[in-house]
Amino acid sequence: MEQHLDIHIERREAKKTKPAQDQLGFGIHFTDHMFMMDYTTEIGWHHARIVPYQPLVMDPAAKVFHYGQTVFEGLKAYKTEDRRILLFRPQKNMQRLNRSNERLSIPLINESFALDALKQLISIDQEWIPSGSGTSLYIRPFVIATQPELIASPSSHFQFIIIMSPVGPYYAEGLNPVKIFVESTSVRAVIGGMGEAKTAANYAASLMAQEDAKHNGYAQVLWLDGVHHKYIEEVGSMNVFFKIKGIVYTPALKGSILDGITRDSILQLLQHWNIPVVSGDISIQKVYEASREGTLEEAFGTGTAAVISPIGELHWHGQNLVIQNGQTGELSNKLYQTLTGIQNGSDPDLFHWMT
Ligand code: COI
Repeated sequence: MEQHLDIHIERREAKKTKPAQDQLGFGIHFTDHMFMMDYTTEIGWHHARIVPYQPLVMDPAAKVFHYGQTVFEGLKAYKTEDRRILLFRPQKNMQRLNRSNERLSIPLINESFALDALKQLISIDQEWIPSGSGTSLYIRPFVIATQPELIASPSSHFQFIIIMSPVGPYYAEGLNPVKIFVESTSVRAVIGGMGEAKTAANYAASLMAQEDAKHNGYAQVLWLDGVHHKYIEEVGSMNVFFKIKGIVYTPALKGSILDGITRDSILQLLQHWNIPVVSGDISIQKVYEASREGTLEEAFGTGTAAVISPIGELHWHGQNLVIQNGQTGELSNKLYQTLTGIQNGSDPDLFHWMT
């Protein structure tokens, strides 16, 4: 199926002005170029190209607008002090992209070709990789269904695109703990649904509860399972961890939550440090009881964008569970320092994660 996979490169003539390193925000500024490739059922993936960053011209009947046939990924590139460019476990992102593609009836993409294309794009726009502390180049590969037709069936045309954005912290709070509202009514995903795919619908499903939580002074929501409304799933768009009596718990991957690459890396780090860790069901009741007994030691969200986001307070059924007196816990801090140290090349790459 793979055809014409040479990458045609068209460089931008006048480069854009780069934002100041302390004014990056998250996903606001975009680099000079983007990667694109097209798919048709007849030809397969073809016409791979790197072109100046530009708007897309699309038919308003394109299936992505109506039926949400789309997937995305998120990963980061870092510039080290000795000016090497590093990617954190990018093969895992390409594998997950294809798992999401499969779930959304989108044709698979050659993973090693996609990674090569990404490396070429980064090389062309390497001046855009920020080097300030806590900054990186956020990379957003995504696929959209472009066939103009209103029949609700898989598209016959797609585009795979990679855009890149120099970013600072995802949350303004950075590593400062956030207040979280435990959402007991609406749900994000169910087992058998699309929760483990990185697809727009999961994020769209989360927006209303997130807005309500924000309105009431909370940074994000803690999602419970869609059947019993009892077991913890994710926090905001991140995987979640709890440390209770020295044991670290995180929800198991059963199909309704994202198989986070930061989550997986944390599991490996905890095992390496001989910290007991359990991937399984955790009820909100268990967290509540631990908090009452004073054994809820830490809670934090994990994801590519924010890396670690400590939880300082959980609001559940009218009760406020304060964690670590609202301070950043020792383990959250150690995980953040270790992961970002490996990622920006200042610490040894114990697990050979960096490319
Ligand atoms: C994450 O990296 O934590 C994400 O889920 C992507 C985010 C920007 C929505």
